[in-house]
Amino acid sequence: MTNPLPAWSALQTHYEQIRDEKLRDWFAPANDPAPTRAERFTFAGAGLGADFSKNRITDATLKLLVQLAREAGVEARRDAMFKGEVVNPTEGRAALHTALRATEADAPFHAQIAAERAKMAKFADAVRSGAWTGYTGKRIRHVVNIGIGGSDLGPKMVVHALKHLELPEITSHFVSNVDGADLWRTIENIDPEETLAIIVSKTFTTLETMTNALSMRDWFVKHGCPQGELAKHFVGVSANPAEVVKFGIAKENVFEMWDWVGGRYSLWSAVGLSIMIAIGPQQFDELLAGAHDMDKHFREAPLEKNLPVLLGMIGIWYRNFFGSQSYLVAPYSEALHFLPSYLQQLEMESNGKSARLDGKFVDYATSAITWGEPGTNGQHAFFQMLHQGTTIVPIDFIAVLTPEHPLADHQPKLLANCFAQSEAMMLGRTEEEAKKIAGPDKPELVPHIMFPGNRPTTTLLVDALTARSLGALIALYEHKVLVQASVWDINPFDQWGVELGKILGKVVEADLNAASADVKPHDSSTAALIARARAALKR
Ligand code: F6P
Repeated sequence: MTNPLPAWSALQTHYEQIRDEKLRDWFAPANDPAPTRAERFTFAGAGLGADFSKNRITDATLKLLVQLAREAGVEARRDAMFKGEVVNPTEGRAALHTALRATEADAPFHAQIAAERAKMAKFADAVRSGAWTGYTGKRIRHVVNIGIGGSDLGPKMVVHALKHLELPEITSHFVSNVDGADLWRTIENIDPEETLAIIVSKTFTTLETMTNALSMRDWFVKHGCPQGELAKHFVGVSANPAEVVKFGIAKENVFEMWDWVGGRYSLWSAVGLSIMIAIGPQQFDELLAGAHDMDKHFREAPLEKNLPVLLGMIGIWYRNFFGSQSYLVAPYSEALHFLPSYLQQLEMESNGKSARLDGKFVDYATSAITWGEPGTNGQHAFFQMLHQGTTIVPIDFIAVLTPEHPLADHQPKLLANCFAQSEAMMLGRTEEEAKKIAGPDKPELVPHIMFPGNRPTTTLLVDALTARSLGALIALYEHKVLVQASVWDINPFDQWGVELGKILGKVVEADLNAASADVKPHDSSTAALIARARAALKR
């Protein structure tokens, strides 16, 4: 796989030189004098720390990776994004999620953003204080966010992460799946008189969201809410306010986002209304401030010490030179439970592309498969494969040093697991060591208890999970995605790849509902599946 940039071919040569080198050897005390690898490859920014030293990199690797970032124009792409240039050319749009957290009065759309934020804060305060009531005068105790993809994953991830800051009187729920079980399981045991639905959809045309929103409206009405009072139980967030009003939501209860906010980058906008209701406007500001800290770091830190640049370029190193297919994010924090699924959309919907900006197809790999699960659960499930399987999966471990809960004695166990896993991945267990453990009676055990080691990991360190540190962490990954997109020369802000399935889905849905004679022809597999489902649905 090739890329015409000089640093790319230099990295290929460099890869051949160091591919068989062992992290274990590099870390051997004799080979790791001061400044040690840990000292040379640990960096900080926006309150976060990143230890890259257990990666298969040397000083020369980092130098070349930074050179590649420069040659690929990462800085120009970054600056264009911050300035509000059209960095999403296939949709003719800017991507200004950074403006949503900018404090500078000359930042793009500053006044518009501030006005919408003030409207959100007023509403959130009213709901939180109990001043905003349902149609029978009861305070709101349940907030149901109905949205999918970017209109769900970000808010859900943040609300879960910051549960310790949540107002106890209100429970947040997130419904995304068009499978009726999702909505039904959420609403079957809650009181409609105490429930507020937030319908979040940038387009306000998304099938799943619209279906759930309509069922939710029926539920309110069936439980006695007069049509004229529905406004007390429904608000909408969209870049298409006319559609929201058509749906029946009062104009004053429509919160606007804009076409220059990408769905998967939108939690900072009114899409984050459920977050603001859960943690309050002040903490929401903290979340934005953390992201802004990372924005500043991304713009100002030299590339050699720039966290999003280093994280992104090390990802490129594995994807394009080692040929890694996937990478794992393992937060050692239950609060960050939904971070991996949020990152799946952020990374793969952004960079899972084959067409370059100039319309030609890439002949090198783009987005790795992103996946993950909180440690320590993953250790007791799939870590076996990470340690001894045939595929090398680079890992981002995320460690939160200070717990947000009172069970302090759990924390050393949690952190010990995190640090021990990265140590084990790096060290492995040699044949000699395995022989000693197996002993003379069990030589057949040796291959089974050997670990290849040399498995690369990054450890991100968060002092404590606050709204501010979480904002910085999310922005770190957002910018990492831009860094990689720049090197791959692709547009990370569109998502044409989701369209074909949506179009065919409409045809299949019509076929499931149609009279037999009207069912359209399909390939034999799809036709058989439709026939089977029609029988089950008894059409
Ligand atoms: O189908 C993919 C997608 O368009 C995502 O990009 C987006 O986050 C999600 O659907 C939801 O879209 P909307 O907010 O318009 O309902």
